[in-house]
Amino acid sequence: MNYSIALIPGDGIGPEVIAPATGVLDTVGDRYGHVFNYIELEAGGCAIDSTGEPLPNETLETAKQCDALLLGAVGGTQWETLPGRLRPERALLGLRAGLGVFANLRPAKLLPQLRSACPIKDEVLLSGNREGKPEFDLLIVRELTGGLYFGKRGRNADGNAAFDTETYSWFEIERTLRVGYEAAEYRRKKLCLVDKANVLESSRLWREAAAVVAKDYPGIETSFLYIDNAAMQLIRNPGQFDVIVTSNLFGDILSDEASALTGSIGMLPSASLGSPHDPLAKNGRPMGMYEPIHGSAPDIAGKDIANPLGTILSAALMLRYSFGLEKEARAVEDAAAAALDAGLRTRDIASRGTAGVNENIVGTREMGEAVIKLLEQ
Ligand code: IPM
Ligand code: MG
Repeated sequence: MNYSIALIPGDGIGPEVIAPATGVLDTVGDRYGHVFNYIELEAGGCAIDSTGEPLPNETLETAKQCDALLLGAVGGTQWETLPGRLRPERALLGLRAGLGVFANLRPAKLLPQLRSACPIKDEVLLSGNREGKPEFDLLIVRELTGGLYFGKRGRNADGNAAFDTETYSWFEIERTLRVGYEAAEYRRKKLCLVDKANVLESSRLWREAAAVVAKDYPGIETSFLYIDNAAMQLIRNPGQFDVIVTSNLFGDILSDEASALTGSIGMLPSASLGSPHDPLAKNGRPMGMYEPIHGSAPDIAGKDIANPLGTILSAALMLRYSFGLEKEARAVEDAAAAALDAGLRTRDIASRGTAGVNENIVGTREMGEAVIKLLEQ
């Protein structure tokens, strides 16, 4: 099959992590007989420099025509002083809203190979309920096109007061919850709704919706946590979680925290999915946007030291969710794990920043090449 992929390398380390990911996809194509056509588009800081706006209309319109979108990262210090609507991050928000990708899946799993890069002590991890296994494996389902990120915001007349609003409709909540419940069906059948229902009215609506939606999934155990407690529980006992469903802002925060537990933010992929019923769906599959959860990391850009695995694993999620290529997705995930088994580490996932026993510190390119070679075997 032929697939068209909108490719937005973006800023900072974006282009460096996208290159190994397309190399991996091309190898998958050769091995399994698929053709991936990339349509490279500009968004973020580089688009501001060349067109004056973070998300040129052409980028969004072209992305809508493609089968999926793979994005590196956007942003950088040189654009930080621009007004809000002209900042690189606007491109992300515009893409998410424009493509209708309301459900952001952020799996966070502690790979046994990276146990020593996880900052939690063994005895704390072992206190979890994963049958004595130190690993945790959770999935954050973050609402992505509503809430505080998209609510009404502004300043008062003299500019010395500002507001942002959290608004959620039942419709937005319900469709996000359903993504969480569907995912839980294929996992350990537990779903935890994280909110601030002791204070926020919008959170109380989430709870009401969860009580109704839960009835359609009798095999799944539903629990509720306030965000402050959830942030603490995630460090005290990450093994207790299976699927976490939460709002846009809380999901943003919790997913960075979860990523640190996996050893490095450089490891985590994400998939942002729309509805299989909306007009942008392709062949009955929802529109999908795939990106590593790390940002543009301007401090390490251009040094060939960034971890490409978050982006490579995002490409694997694209194979799975947008193209239905489960076998190919697994092959990529297995090759990434095999590179770690072989002792390869980018700096961020090396034990305590220096190469541990049997560890070999490699750069971005070398890590990508190793994954490709393992895929070819
Ligand atoms: C993320 C990022 C973005 C977000 C920023 C860059 C706007 O932190 O994808 O988690 O807050 O959603
Ligand atoms: Mg974030």
